[in-house]
Amino acid sequence: MADPQLTVVEQQLGAVYDAMHAARARTTIVGGLYGQAMGDLYPAEVAASSSTDWALLGTMVANLRMQPGQCLVDVGCGTGGVGLWLARALAACVTGVDVSSTALGLAAARARHFGLPAECADFRLGSLGSTGLPARYADGLVCVDALGHEKDRRKALEEIRRVLKPGARAVLTSGRSQARQALPPWSEQAQRTGLILDAEEERPHEPAMWQRVYRSWVEHEAELREQLGHAQADSMLTEARTRGPALRDRVAVAVTLRRPED
Ligand SMILES: C[S@@+](CC[C@H](N)C(=O)[O-])C[C@H]1O[C@@H](n2cnc3c(N)ncnc32)[C@H](O)[C@@H]1O
Repeated sequence: MADPQLTVVEQQLGAVYDAMHAARARTTIVGGLYGQAMGDLYPAEVAASSSTDWALLGTMVANLRMQPGQCLVDVGCGTGGVGLWLARALAACVTGVDVSSTALGLAAARARHFGLPAECADFRLGSLGSTGLPARYADGLVCVDALGHEKDRRKALEEIRRVLKPGARAVLTSGRSQARQALPPWSEQAQRTGLILDAEEERPHEPAMWQRVYRSWVEHEAELREQLGHAQADSMLTEARTRGPALRDRVAVAVTLRRPED
């Protein structure tokens, strides 16, 4: 596999996420707060830092249409729970890609828990725009709450197309504002990058779930400061206070894209 070309911005993003993943790995408080906010929709074993709930896992299983023994790619995999859970459920192998080397180390250490042999769980440094994976490598791909951090959406979708085998699908989480259309509709984004939009499924419960998550972060400020340190707590509280108000207007979606057959 090729060495991925991380830009300076991606390297800086990696350092920010290194600090976040390292701090969250030292304590159970963040997972506990996600669990309280999601209730019985929270898949605790996955321990995602994202919108991943049972409904999203179900959407990914149904929409990927993968066969046993195939290869799943998880881009922006974080600590790997989503890709590892899916690989076990689908009897697949997983390759996770992320800009955070700390997250990748934590992900690799979790493979055994999910019963995956070492050769079936590979976690490597790379970005949405430059995964370092060979062309036509993936029988399926997921990207949960990582799209949007990259500077160039078109480049990320072109990379997803390159990595998918013809006929294979990618499931991505995304969102938009009801009031302000910042990006073209998904049908257009897909078409421009040589992909087919298979499905765009709204997740109407998700903005309210994030409102509960953010409220719980604000309510537990003292514990977050004590267990994660001031820098991480400040970053979470800033996210809660800046993104929280925009949730009223947010439409959350799971998007399924397919690379056409040759
Ligand atoms: C919100 S976390 C979600 C992690 C994981 N998908 C999950 O559901 O738990 C976002 C992850 O995406 C990674 N990330 C952000 N921008 C990225 C990019 N441009 N390329 C690759 N990974 C990226 C971060 O390092 C972080 O681990």
